[in-house]
Amino acid sequence: MKKLIEAAEIEQAVRKLGRDIEDWYNDEPLTILGVLTGSVILLSDLVRAVELPIKIGLIQASSYRGATTTRGDLVINESLIPNVENRHVLLLDDIFDTGHTLRKLIPVIERRRARTVRTAVLLWKEERTEVGFAPDYHCFKIPNEFVVGYGLDYNDEYRHLPFIAALEDHEIEG
Ligand code: IMP
Ligand code: MG
Repeated sequence: MKKLIEAAEIEQAVRKLGRDIEDWYNDEPLTILGVLTGSVILLSDLVRAVELPIKIGLIQASSYRGATTTRGDLVINESLIPNVENRHVLLLDDIFDTGHTLRKLIPVIERRRARTVRTAVLLWKEERTEVGFAPDYHCFKIPNEFVVGYGLDYNDEYRHLPFIAALEDHEIEG
């Protein structure tokens, strides 16, 4: 694998993200809703970098796929979502690839009468975007490569790596 982003760069970017979030929400109550499983490492670092009265929630979204570019059906498990009525919600995911995952999750939260719904990701593969919006916050734009680490997986491996790396062709099953 080829290292793309060092752990220290991620740490710095997450701290900056925390400050940007503080500036935007301006002491109003916020629920940061992490998309399982890829966002868990980012979620735990980010909530400690935001000095606001926040609550943490989780939502599960899985699209059956590995390193291929084809999109599977998205299965959403809403059972872990806390009450967000009249609260600001920041949906947090590891990566904005095509954007379809967050496009489908936003109305799920809006239906629960959140006050506002915005999105934040660690990584944005800008050239792969297929939806008519961009994430409200991103830490890094990356090229169209399959990446792992800091929560991102390939077949559920590599999530624990403290850095972001691109897998090479021989590491991905054809
Ligand atoms: P989207 O719906 O296409 O934006 O894809 C978002 C989801 O696809 C993420 O939550 C990841 O689980 C997965 N994904 C997309 N690109 C990668 C990658 O390069 N490495 C690991 N997972 C990825
Ligand atoms: Mg994911």
